[in-house]
Order: sequence, then C-alpha cells, then structure tokens
Amino acid sequence: MNILLTGGTGYIGSHTAVALAQAGHQIVLLDNYSNSRPGAGDRLAKILGQSVPQVECDVRNTTRLTQTLRQHAIEAVIHFAGLKAVGASMARSLDYYANNVQGAISLLQAMQASGVKTLVFSSSATVYGDPQYLPIDEQHPRSATNPYGRTKLQIEDLLSDVAHADKTWHISCLRYFNPVGAHESGLIGEAPQGIPDNLMPFIAQVASGERPQLNIFGNDYPTPDGTGVRDYIHVMDLAAGHGAALTALNAGTWEPNSSGTTIHTAWLQKLTFC
Ligand SMILES: NC(=O)c1ccc[n+]([C@@H]2O[C@H](COP(=O)([O-])OP(=O)(O)OC[C@H]3O[C@@H](n4cnc5c(N)ncnc54)[C@H](O)[C@@H]3O)[C@@H](O)[C@H]2O)c1
Repeated sequence: MNILLTGGTGYIGSHTAVALAQAGHQIVLLDNYSNSRPGAGDRLAKILGQSVPQVECDVRNTTRLTQTLRQHAIEAVIHFAGLKAVGASMARSLDYYANNVQGAISLLQAMQASGVKTLVFSSSATVYGDPQYLPIDEQHPRSATNPYGRTKLQIEDLLSDVAHADKTWHISCLRYFNPVGAHESGLIGEAPQGIPDNLMPFIAQVASGERPQLNIFGNDYPTPDGTGVRDYIHVMDLAAGHGAALTALNAGTWEPNSSGTTIHTAWLQKLTFC
C-alpha cells in the first residue's frame, strides 16, 4: 500500500515508517520540520537500504497536500503531525488549535479531494482526562484538562462527524501515551528541538551531560517513595500497532463504534489487538 505519514520525520512517525516499509509498504514522509530534522530521512534510508520520499510541507497547505496525495498515488494516511507539549499548549493555545485542528481539517479536505479515505489518527490517552476508574477502557468518558487535550478531542469529534456523513471513510483513532525507546539500530530515536517535553529524552540529555539535572515533581503519590509511576510502551510496538490498525481498517475487521470510527487505547491493551 502507498502510505503518507504526516509528521513522518518525528519520533513516532519515523519508527512507524521503518515498520511499514519493512512490511512491504511504500511510504512517503511529509513534515514541516518544526520538531524534527530532514536528516531523519537519510537515517531511515540507511536502516531500510532504500531511499524514502520526503516532502517538506505544512499540513495546513491543503493544495500541496492534495498534490502530494495524487502524485504518490497514496491509498492511506497516518496523521502524526501536530504539536504535543501540554505546557506549551497552555501558553500558546491559539498556535495549538491552529496547528492541530486546522491541520486535521486541511488533511481531511485534501484526502477528500483526492479520494483517499483511509486514515489512522494519532490521538492521545489525554482525551480520558482525570481517570474516573482504572484501568481506563475505551468506554471511559472523555474530557480534557488542557488545550492540547482539547485539540485531540475536537479532532476526534471532527473525524466522527466525517465518518458518519460518509460511510466510505475508514478511520481509526489510536489513543496512546508514553512511547519510549528507539529502533534497535540506534540511528533514529526521540530527538526533539529545544528543551524536551517528554521525560525520556530529558533523562537522556541529563545522562549525556547536556543538562545538569532532572527535577522530579510530586512526593505524595501512593507509591513506595511517593513519586509518580507511569506505564510506557516501546515505540517499535507502537509502530507495529499502526501497521495493524491499517491492516484491520482495510480488511474491514474493525467494527466502527457509535462515533463512526474505531478507537483503541494502545497503552492499555499493550497492542494485543494486533
Ligand atoms: N510522544 C507522545 O508521548 C505522544 C503520546 C500520545 C500522542 N502523541 C501524538 O502522536 C503524534 C506524534 O508524536 P511524536 O511524539 O512523534 O511527536 P514529534 O514532535 O516527534 O512528531 C510530530 C511531527 O509533526 C511535525 N509537524 C508538526 N506540525 C506540523 C504541521 N503543521 N505540518 C507538518 N508537520 C508538522 C513535526 O515537525 C514533527 O516532526 C502527535 O500528534 C502527538 O500528539 C504523542
């Protein structure tokens, strides 16, 4: 299958690119490099032993996006492109809505114009808000505690409306969180621009001497030492999950739920739905 990865040179996108290419798919990476570098494509080529088409484009550029979908005869899209830092989303909420929500609208318009109707969306477990029960499942009520989460909620609602209006769309939302690790080659990994917003790259930068220290917040959680405990998922497992989601969408083996889309909480199910 010919698959476009928006945000494809970013952390999860680049690892998913490896998994998809190694499964025999033709991949095209599209990115505006706001949080990644074009060189990621070269490193992917080294891992895969073949070059990977790369397009520099903002997802809000609907015209160029449409051209790209047509030029590469794209059959499915995985939409990773987005801003993802919770703190920054509170300080720069307008940027987050403009980038994430406007970006999703632009992508859907381009896909509609080119007749591409299979989409996997990088949602987030943040759409569950503060847990009302544990473990959280897909029936857990949705809410958001910050603008980043609200952009994900709005995009999920948008996708649901689109899927209800036109049954030829096949859309899956993956609500994951806390991917860590890197491809076994060590050639790609999590290398954000500026100060990392995620814990693991921050720890790596402290370990390598780039930053002096890591502050640990919170000391009254019900854990042995009072600090927080989190679940993590290896990024290559998450990458495989995206391939599984596409396969299932194409095979029609996922029944849409009431939202008209399929929704999976990757961290919770440890991707056993593959
Ligand atoms: N990493 C996590 O912890 C996590 C958890 C849940 C969901 N997600 C979601 O997964 C997706 C990918 O996350 P990631 O960790 O790989 O982040 P990332 O920042 O490494 O990758 C996102 C990529 O999108 C690109 N991008 C951003 N806005 C763009 C735009 N308007 N046009 C084109 N490209 C654009 C960035 O340059 C970057 O390469 C995001 O949508 C994020 O919200 C991430």
